[in-house]
Amino acid sequence: MRSVDNPIKVSVFGAGYVGLVSATGLAAIGHQVVCIDVDAERVERLMLGEVPFYEPGLSELVTECVATGRLRFTTSSHDAIAHGEVLMIGVGTPPLLDGSADLSQVINVAQTIGGLLDHFAVVVVKSTVPVGTSDIVRQAVADGARASGEAIDFAVASNPEFLKEGDAVRDFMQPDRIVIGSSDARAIEILSAMYAPLCSSPKVLMVMSERSSELCKYASNAMLATRISFMNEIAKLSDAVGADVIDVQRVMAADPRIGSKYLSAGAGFGGSCFPKDLRAIVAMGNDNDMNLNLIKSVIEVNDAQQNVLLDKALQHFGSLKGKRCAIWGLSFKPETDDIRDAPALTLIRRLLAEGATVVAHDPLVKWLPMFSSIAPNLFEIVDCQYDAVVDADVLFLVTEWKQFRELDADRLVRDMRECLIVDGRNLWHDKDFGAMPVTYLGVGRSSSHSPAEFGEFGEFGELGELRKLVS
Ligand SMILES: NC(=O)c1ccc[n+]([C@@H]2O[C@H](COP(=O)([O-])OP(=O)(O)OC[C@H]3O[C@@H](n4cnc5c(N)ncnc54)[C@H](O)[C@@H]3O)[C@@H](O)[C@H]2O)c1
Repeated sequence: MRSVDNPIKVSVFGAGYVGLVSATGLAAIGHQVVCIDVDAERVERLMLGEVPFYEPGLSELVTECVATGRLRFTTSSHDAIAHGEVLMIGVGTPPLLDGSADLSQVINVAQTIGGLLDHFAVVVVKSTVPVGTSDIVRQAVADGARASGEAIDFAVASNPEFLKEGDAVRDFMQPDRIVIGSSDARAIEILSAMYAPLCSSPKVLMVMSERSSELCKYASNAMLATRISFMNEIAKLSDAVGADVIDVQRVMAADPRIGSKYLSAGAGFGGSCFPKDLRAIVAMGNDNDMNLNLIKSVIEVNDAQQNVLLDKALQHFGSLKGKRCAIWGLSFKPETDDIRDAPALTLIRRLLAEGATVVAHDPLVKWLPMFSSIAPNLFEIVDCQYDAVVDADVLFLVTEWKQFRELDADRLVRDMRECLIVDGRNLWHDKDFGAMPVTYLGVGRSSSHSPAEFGEFGEFGELGELRKLVS
């Protein structure tokens, strides 16, 4: 990777997934970066070299960049604004009750910048924000400046971030695309120079209007979420008509026009982006007197999908009252400890409401604050995945962590009270349970394994022998 000949002074507002990865990535390619957060404890931990969340490779890179002196942390707006020629806003944009994005954190930073800026700077909006936010930010910076009585010169640019949690460092350092939305030549020049070392080809850098730039982030997330909900709908149909969604997916993925990514059926999507961004784009449609029916359906299918695992267990048992339920995987996807809008949370809530007890395991998530008041005999998180299944009636696989791939089915049969496996990610779709007393239910897989398949005498009983003779 190239580094810069002329380092740019950058200040990044927000030391969350996006802000911290961006700040560190920009420092890694040679820029002088200050990362500011209002969370003093977070900043204190970062100053001690502790990254407050798990992201592969990030901790090492932060340590390296701090050691070179190119990355430092602060809680002081004066410090950050005095430092930056580029002032990058990477704070949260959570949903309001009507689904639209809450821009208060973004506006707050913009006003602060306006009040303290005394040199030319490019104000970059990296947070995911609705179309038109650049105008709001421009106004908020100007308002802040007016309040302080200073005349200031600044430019605004939209620069959405496309990183994926769990792969964030690689996504930032080797981007498929970097989008700069601005009509200000100075902003385009400075940001193009800032990102130049990350552009493996000129095609990576895409310059456009602020509004197109703002919309492309939502459009991309909506497209990915649509693929997931589409496959979940096909999975539902597969269950109903006796098809296997894994085979359907295999065939679809072989078509280069379709491709294989984001084509797996499962327990539905979660995380800090898809659910909130979909609701925000629908709200944007409403604001423009448009009914975004397709995207509304994507949300609807996903909401329903959150119940699929529970419904499968309910169908099997009739009632879950008193049942002991093991859950493997709590984070919204593997390689992250992020639990925002994770499907496992909905499942836990519903299981507890049904009168079941829950024992969960996740490689990284060791505490769920929203369930901290639940008695440990009703809900607990254990350190070992196989401790979770002891005396369990059902195992739910919710997050497809790599370490869950190898399944010790003998141990499940030995330790579980009844061996029902509800595989919410079809992780073990190719596992042969043979004659084991296991009921295995995938998503959209009507051909799932059931001991009943072999008759009441099992595979080697009368029916099994008959089957061998005729096959
Ligand atoms: N997480 C992702 O995978 C991802 C990917 C692409 C885009 N985004 C978008 O990026 C934005 C940030 O997301 P995130 O996941 O990093 O959020 P986050 O919640 O992890 O981090 C936001 C940080 O901003 C800090 N903050 C709030 N107000 C501040 C202020 N006035 N000054 C300085 N810091 C302040 C918070 O304390 C927090 O640490 C959102 O708009 C999100 O939609 C997120």
